[in-house]
Amino acid sequence: MLAIIGGSGLAQLSVLEVTHRQVVRTPYGDPSCALTFGHLAGQNVVFIARHGYGHSLAPHEINYRANLWALHNQGIKGVIAIGTVGGIRPDMAPGRLVVPDDIIDYSWGRKHTFFEGPERPVVHAEFTAPYDDGLRRRLLAAVAESGRSGVDGGVYACTQGPRLESAAEILRLEQDGADIVGMTGMPEAALARELELPYAHLCLVSNWAAGKGGASSVQFDPATGALGVEAVTATLLCLMAGK
Ligand code: HPA
Repeated sequence: MLAIIGGSGLAQLSVLEVTHRQVVRTPYGDPSCALTFGHLAGQNVVFIARHGYGHSLAPHEINYRANLWALHNQGIKGVIAIGTVGGIRPDMAPGRLVVPDDIIDYSWGRKHTFFEGPERPVVHAEFTAPYDDGLRRRLLAAVAESGRSGVDGGVYACTQGPRLESAAEILRLEQDGADIVGMTGMPEAALARELELPYAHLCLVSNWAAGKGGASSVQFDPATGALGVEAVTATLLCLMAGK
């Protein structure tokens, strides 16, 4: 069974045939919401809305550890994370789907490891390649199968939010090598690695990052978002139909 973590605009997965919901508690506190179990293209899936139902949790308020722990406890084989991002690189235009292959973490103050405290001595998780290549390949094949062209690879910068970045901050991220920017990719990916869960990220570009794309809006564009949700659900259906 795969887990799907839905981001902004994907608090519910309309194509999921829901079988049941389960409220889960973890040693790390409560997840963002109940887990939703169901079938997608005939495959078992467990879904969680990262920001909670009704998008009530800001990126820094999300209990990433509880979310990952709760999903891990269901015996999942991997995690497909969905998130909206701002586009920094010229080809990362609003409406595009990107499957990044690397991360730079600028977030701070978030509970970001399971390995702390007297019970859990430190472990330095390997993170050279933050995303699982097999899951990335499957995601890219599913994007293509759904009739769209996804971007294969790119560096995801995770900022703290909830505010958007300044133009100078985006310039710095670009100089660091970042291609897209979001607020929730970390510590989620690292926590998945600590639990040895294969993890890949399907990113929908919802806007140009600050100062990019000419004078056009920096703000999240609901029109692109709405189109994007269809692209994301079509990809997920193809992914699950592909096995
Ligand atoms: N910056 C950070 N996170 C985001 C953005 C952005 O421009 N768009 C969507 N998530």
